[in-house]
Amino acid sequence: MSNGHKVDYGFFTKKLWREWAWKQARKRVIANGVNPKDAIVLFLPGEKCLDVPIAKKNKFQFHNMFAVERDRVTIKNLRKKGINVISADFAEVLQNWVGPPLIDVIMADYCCGLTRLTANLTGALYASPTTKKGTVAIVNLLRGHDPLISAWRKVITDDSKYLDYGMSADISKKNRTAFIKEKHRGRMFYSLYMSGWVTQFIEENNLSGKDGPAILKFYFGMSFLSLPKFKSYKSKHGNTMMDSVAFSLPFGGREIHAGLKDKDKRVLARKLSEQVMNGSCQSKIAAAKAIRTMRINKRKAS
Ligand SMILES: C[S@@+](CC[C@H](N)C(=O)[O-])C[C@H]1O[C@@H](n2cnc3c(N)ncnc32)[C@H](O)[C@@H]1O
Repeated sequence: MSNGHKVDYGFFTKKLWREWAWKQARKRVIANGVNPKDAIVLFLPGEKCLDVPIAKKNKFQFHNMFAVERDRVTIKNLRKKGINVISADFAEVLQNWVGPPLIDVIMADYCCGLTRLTANLTGALYASPTTKKGTVAIVNLLRGHDPLISAWRKVITDDSKYLDYGMSADISKKNRTAFIKEKHRGRMFYSLYMSGWVTQFIEENNLSGKDGPAILKFYFGMSFLSLPKFKSYKSKHGNTMMDSVAFSLPFGGREIHAGLKDKDKRVLARKLSEQVMNGSCQSKIAAAKAIRTMRINKRKAS
């Protein structure tokens, strides 16, 4: 899966997607009251790191951009270019990023389908202590090559009924057809992310099937906060579809942690530490943060 050094991401439809994605990032960051110049970005680079010029065009700063990469050859080549790279899994970095600076943009341009690994990102977006209300998430996934999808299809399909209402104002007719077919991986990712919130809402309020309107209202409210936008494009040779979602987190991990009772905080902390806390990943993040600080100081001095 981590094959960034073998693939050419310079083709036309990808270029258009990149322009769309970074524009979404800029607009949403500004709407969240953050100047793109100050925004902290976590992204998947690919060997040529074609994101950087587009990100700069949208006023993001090079020293605030943290690349995450698992492919060793790609990491080596990116470092030669001066890119600040964390060599780890993307969702794992988000889960292990503790303390300032908080992340404003999560640009997850994956090169695979909705797998267990990419689905992990939904949990990381939900519980990471570095996300806040309005943190921008942009996720790009390949349609197919994800055998686990059939197991999730039911939960996603059930949620989709609500989402169709909740987001109808935002969906063009063309995209809506794609959603009804339930193939759009951006749509599926978003449904999976939202299903976590719905489950929590239902459990906290002891709701049941007859409370459909209340659940619908909740969905509507959450979609109003996150304002999801969807996009698809064809791969270089036109044989694969890529699907994306851009949304703003309705609540971040920080708000969730702050809102929890002490007992629940302990439960969540234990759950997180059992599942994802990884000292080696935290050291890599700390090293990347130190590189950023060094670059800022260098700029100030010159
Ligand atoms: C699709 S490419 C990124 C392309 C780039 N954003 C662009 O617009 O040209 C995805 C990159 O992320 C790496 N990658 C894929 N899944 C990853 C994961 N879970 N964690 C870390 N790196 C990953 C791949 O090796 C590849 O280099």
